[in-house]
Amino acid sequence: MATQYLWSLLAAVVALRLLFLIYNAVVAQPRKLRSTLRRQGLSGPPPALLLGNIMEMKRARDAAAKVAPVSGPPAAHNCGAALLPFFDEWRERYGEVFVFALGTTQIVHVTQPEMVKEITTCTSLDLGKPTYQAKERGALLGQGILTSNGPHWVHQRKILAPELFMDKVKGMIELIQDSSMSLCDSWTRLVEEGGGLAEIKIDEYIRSFSGDVISRACFGSNFSKGEEIFLKLRALQEVSSRKIFATGTGMRHLPTKSNREAWALEKEIKTLILDVVKQRDEAGFEKDLLQMVLEGARQSDLSHEAVDRFVVDNCKNIYLAGYETTAVSATWCLMLLASNPDWQDRIRHEVANVCQGRLPDYKATMKMKLLTMAINESLRLYPPVSVVSREALKDMKFGKLNVPKGVNLWTLVTTLHTDPEIWGSDSYEFNPERFADGVAGACNLRSCVPPWARQGLSGPPQALLLSNILEMKRARNPADKAAHVTGPQSPTTVAPRCSPSSTSGGNAAVLFGEVFIFALGTTHVVHVTQPEIVKEITTGMSSEVCKHLPMKTNREAWALEKEIKTLVLNVVKERDEAGFEKDLLQMVLEGAR
Ligand code: HEM
Repeated sequence: MATQYLWSLLAAVVALRLLFLIYNAVVAQPRKLRSTLRRQGLSGPPPALLLGNIMEMKRARDAAAKVAPVSGPPAAHNCGAALLPFFDEWRERYGEVFVFALGTTQIVHVTQPEMVKEITTCTSLDLGKPTYQAKERGALLGQGILTSNGPHWVHQRKILAPELFMDKVKGMIELIQDSSMSLCDSWTRLVEEGGGLAEIKIDEYIRSFSGDVISRACFGSNFSKGEEIFLKLRALQEVSSRKIFATGTGMRHLPTKSNREAWALEKEIKTLILDVVKQRDEAGFEKDLLQMVLEGARQSDLSHEAVDRFVVDNCKNIYLAGYETTAVSATWCLMLLASNPDWQDRIRHEVANVCQGRLPDYKATMKMKLLTMAINESLRLYPPVSVVSREALKDMKFGKLNVPKGVNLWTLVTTLHTDPEIWGSDSYEFNPERFADGVAGACNLRSCVPPWARQGLSGPPQALLLSNILEMKRARNPADKAAHVTGPQSPTTVAPRCSPSSTSGGNAAVLFGEVFIFALGTTHVVHVTQPEIVKEITTGMSSEVCKHLPMKTNREAWALEKEIKTLVLNVVKERDEAGFEKDLLQMVLEGAR
């Protein structure tokens, strides 16, 4: 009797504890976060229990989808209104910074330039990828670079980033040529079969092309297996996108039909990737992305199981980060050229002139200025990543806003890319001419942009567009500009969160001092926070003139340059004496020699 009583008591305690945890997660915690934000003047659409604002968002999306499509190309390119229509309405009602909820996740919407800049330049590991994404998209992304945080992210970044630097991408030109040729051949065949004319729906072709390139880059000679993995991943992506409006509601744990489908696909993909790894181990070394990920993981202090997870998750992440973004960008660019035949003709001429009947190589693509302008304009109007999201993993402060731990921050790329204040009154029109002087020259605030931004940078182009815009928009406001010129703490350039500088978790200044160099792709950047240098740069003296004058800062820079050169050449000498190593320096050395 006593035992039975004890069991009932235990069950009651467990049930109570469970209820408390659920109440805390669903009601108390979201309410606490919202009231902290509300006390600072932030308002937003009222959330429903458990769902937040999901139903409103869904209704607005459905209504936008029902608007009958106009025939022919759109006069104004406003993809934000079609994709995220609810934001326009909320922005009008609650201002540029407001709070909304996806399930129980509280999100601050930010397009206020000063704050966006602070967020995108923040290198603290306390500002991370949203934890809800890792939970909701676990089957798709696992714990790879796209969703991980803290030291785990730094570790993955250290292994993956060098593999995607421009020097490595240059080495992929041949495989890109191969995939392009098979795409062109398949279109030529269709045109021939149609007697010189064919209507081709390019979406699927471009997706397969992009998947093919990544399969080859990632899996080398095992690329046919890579294509199988790619198809399964697309199916998994499709299943996951159906669940987008169940975010933060806990539905992911239930054995619903789509969850069961996702779990099965996840398992199949894992087996396929680990099969390739096994074959690779038996057949020997290859110089592809998989090999680098594999070696990086095996050289770390990870268990066998963790190495497998690392390899599987990061292969999936590279596919997902690379294939959709590239495919969508290329498709929109072709659509825009097709609906602007004058630009299509100009670019065709440029390509024919540069190539002279040969296949374009890396150098040739660098000479195609008009094509670059059209790609920039297409990325501006149709950015494949429309939102950049982060979560405060600890209590943080941006501008005057205290952001409590657990709150997410969303920066709307589509809104910033079409803001008439930044781009002018034709901001919703296709006009590649605006990029004639590069990204920095695309708005009428050229003088405020630091010289290296005008030279064009490599890296995710859209992230760069975003960061440059923020700097320009900030400088447009005279009050801000004054602060910008004199403020010793205001860096003149904005590095995206995913720039190589962030791999060091913001510690580079500690390691190398206030003035040091790093590389964005192949562009070398001098990082400066030393107030005197910042002042000289921002007071607008022409860099051409400045760089030859023996002023204090230049003398310092020349001395540093000499020191860095001596240091690097010493390492090269030591290397020559000690023998071969498999690092970036060795590759650069061999390439140069
Ligand atoms: C038009 C093409 C592309 C665009 C517009 C683009 C855009 C972006 C943006 C905006 C981010 C930052 C996301 C965030 O911080 O939340 C990002 C991250 C990333 N991208 Fe891309 N991307 C493109 C192509 C690629 C390709 C081809 C690859 C690889 C094959 C790739 C791999 C990655 C990876 C691994 C990250 C995560 C970096 C990190 O978290 O440290 N991207 N990309």
